[in-house]
Amino acid sequence: MEEKKRGAFSGSIGFILAAAGSAVGLGNMWRFPYLAARNGGGLFLVIYIILALTFGFTMLTTEIAIGRKTKQSPLTAFSQLSKKFKFAGVFACIVPFIILPYYCAIGGWVIKYFVDFIIGNGEAATADGYFGGFITSQWAPIIYMLIFFVLTAFAVFKGVEGGIEKLSKILMPALIVIVICVSIFSLTLKHTDAGVTRTGLEGLKIYVLPSFEGVTVGKFFSILMDAMGQLFFSLSVAMGVMIAYGSYVKDEDNLGKSVNQIEIFDTGVAFFAGVMIIPAIFTFLGREGLESSGPGLMFVALPKVFQAMGPVVGRIVGIVFFAMVLFAALTSSVSIMEAVVASFNDQFHWERKKSCIIESICCLVIAIVVCLGYNVFMFEITLPNGAAAQILDILDYLSNNLLMPIVAIAECILIGWVCGPKTIEDEICKGGNKFGRKGLYNVMVKFIAPILLFVLLLRAVGIFNLLGINL
Ligand code: PFF
Repeated sequence: MEEKKRGAFSGSIGFILAAAGSAVGLGNMWRFPYLAARNGGGLFLVIYIILALTFGFTMLTTEIAIGRKTKQSPLTAFSQLSKKFKFAGVFACIVPFIILPYYCAIGGWVIKYFVDFIIGNGEAATADGYFGGFITSQWAPIIYMLIFFVLTAFAVFKGVEGGIEKLSKILMPALIVIVICVSIFSLTLKHTDAGVTRTGLEGLKIYVLPSFEGVTVGKFFSILMDAMGQLFFSLSVAMGVMIAYGSYVKDEDNLGKSVNQIEIFDTGVAFFAGVMIIPAIFTFLGREGLESSGPGLMFVALPKVFQAMGPVVGRIVGIVFFAMVLFAALTSSVSIMEAVVASFNDQFHWERKKSCIIESICCLVIAIVVCLGYNVFMFEITLPNGAAAQILDILDYLSNNLLMPIVAIAECILIGWVCGPKTIEDEICKGGNKFGRKGLYNVMVKFIAPILLFVLLLRAVGIFNLLGINL
């Protein structure tokens, strides 16, 4: 068979923006700020940053280097390093396959709210039960999901340089500008409610000042685990994406430098998402408002905040905010789809077009089931970690809590003990580049990361709950 030419990013900037585009997504916007507010503010931030510089750095370096070394996507990359680790490749490909449908369903919700604020329906969106009414309706969530999916699939279909890189080069700088402007605006807010005046700066204090109130050893451990789970999802590691993107990086590019910049980008946006959201929520809804996360935060609490800003300002901020979330979600979903499409290309030697069509059909069928999970397929079960779940939550649990730690543990064992960390070092040092934090990397990949990951996995399957340990 004739060898197909592999796509490539045009240079480091294109790669960094695409990888940062993958990393910066809904996780940064709707989970990070809430976790920080709930877990001792600055205390969580410090733990998160330390983890990002050690654990996050290790996983990101490993995946990007595996991708560039093997020039393969997740499904086939692992078996090139060791035949015994083929299963990890299969898992790493199943993860994005599972995530894409529900990420598109949520992307559809974002488009719905974006459109609502554009057409001046923002006020109605704050009514009690509006969000519930929308997701439980039969057709609207499917139609919005389809719009989001078509945008995603179009970029992936156009290829690495002409689609993914181009999209990221436009959306990521726009996102940064919006994040900075909205953050500054959020800090200037002031609101009086029932005789109490609250300001954005007070909200900022809750977010950044460390609070040790009620922090026991158990609580500290649970903050550590929350931070680690978040870091995973946020950096898009253990789901094949960074391996696929790494495989498109040219040999002369400096990988170590790129890893640092992607990390700074992702952590920076997560931090500023908190500066945008926490002061605004605190000013208008008080401390109770900070209790919500995920859909409740984005589609219920925040529209209320925008409404409280007044009809004109609220509408403008609402449009800008949901545009930003849409940009973040799109560049992430593009990367998720690319991981699957690239795997099909490499495994079955299909053309990009054929892989895109097949993945689109699979994704759409599952995504429609996900959307209908709040309607005709509505049911509720309790997950091993105690959370109540519908179809979307089950897919999220399977991918994030079970498969991702397994893939990451396999990666650590493969690199730490089977191939040896030197494999990664050689890749990073190609072309005379330096591998900063090499000693740290070796210890992390061999010992600390797999142990932490194993504990995370035990926690996810509910072992600690079973043992009556509250972590
Ligand atoms: N990292 C993205 C976020 O924080 O929302 C989500 C994500 C991207 C998940 C890519 C999975 C993935 F493959």
